[in-house]
Amino acid sequence: MEGDDEELERLKRKIERERGFNCQFYKDKCLRRRIAVRMRARGRQSFAEYGMLLDREPAEYDFLLDTLTINVTKFFRNIETWNAVEQQVVPRLFEGRGPVRVWSAGSASGEEAYTTSILLREWAERNGRTGELSRLRITGTDIDRRSLETAERGVYPELSLTETPEAIKARWFSPGPPFRIHADAQKGVSFTRRDLISGEPEGEQSLIFCRNVVIYFDREIQERLFKRFYDALVPGGFLVLGKVETLIGVARTQFRSINNRERIFQRPA
Ligand SMILES: C[S@@+](CC[C@H](N)C(=O)[O-])C[C@H]1O[C@@H](n2cnc3c(N)ncnc32)[C@H](O)[C@@H]1O
Repeated sequence: MEGDDEELERLKRKIERERGFNCQFYKDKCLRRRIAVRMRARGRQSFAEYGMLLDREPAEYDFLLDTLTINVTKFFRNIETWNAVEQQVVPRLFEGRGPVRVWSAGSASGEEAYTTSILLREWAERNGRTGELSRLRITGTDIDRRSLETAERGVYPELSLTETPEAIKARWFSPGPPFRIHADAQKGVSFTRRDLISGEPEGEQSLIFCRNVVIYFDREIQERLFKRFYDALVPGGFLVLGKVETLIGVARTQFRSINNRERIFQRPA
C-alpha cells in the first residue's frame, strides 16, 4: 500500500484543483479508506486508475466527495448527550440579554441544528419562557452542498429519526416517510456553505456543536479549529464535541470541562 503514496498525493492534488476540496487536512488513513470505497464501487485497482476515471467521468467527483465527507447524521444522535445539554447548558443560554446564537459546525443535512431548535422550543414551553425564542439564531454550516440542500428542504427518511423519541416525532414532523419537519422548528434556523478550515468562523456564539467532524482532521487542524471555536464563543459559551472526540493542545487548558462523558466544554466567563 505504501508504495502508492505518490499516486495518492497526485490524486489529492487533482481533487483540490478540480473541486476545491483540500484533502491535505484530512488524515491519510481516512482518505485511503474512503477513496477505496469508490474504487471498489467502480472496479479500479489503483489510485492512478481511479484518477483516470475521474478525468473521463467528472460526475464521479460528486460520488467521491459524498464518500469523503461522510454525511451520516440523525436527529437526537446520542440522546444522552442531548439530555445533558438540556440539563447543563440550555438553562444557562438565556441568562443574559440579546441574541442567543447556536452554531452547528459540520451540520450535514441539518438534523443537529433542528434537534437544537426542537430541544430549545420544548424547554421554553415547559418553563414559560417562549418569549425568549425570538432571541434564538441557529446556523448550520457544512462544506457539502447536497447535504445543505436537504437541510433547507427539511424532508427526511425514516433512518434520520431512529433515535428520536416517539412523542417528539409525532409533534414535530408530518407523518411519513418521508418526514417533513414542521415550519415552527425551522424558525430562526439557517444553513450556509462554509469550509470549517479555510472559511470565516461564526462569531459571538453561545453554543457550538462540532460533533463527528474533527475526528477526520489531522492533529494540527484540530488544534487550529479548537482555537477558532474558543474565539467564536462568547465568554461562558459552550462547545459540544462528538462522543469519540476530545480537546487537544492548548484548548485543554483554555476550556473548562462541564461533562467529560458527553464532551461538553465551556469557555470560562
Ligand atoms: C459525520 S457528519 C456529522 C454531522 C453531525 N454533526 C453529527 O454529528 O451528526 C460530518 C460532516 O462534516 C462535514 N465536513 C467535513 N469536512 C468539512 C470541512 N472542511 N468544512 C465543513 N464541513 C466539513 C461533512 O460534509 C459532513 O457533513
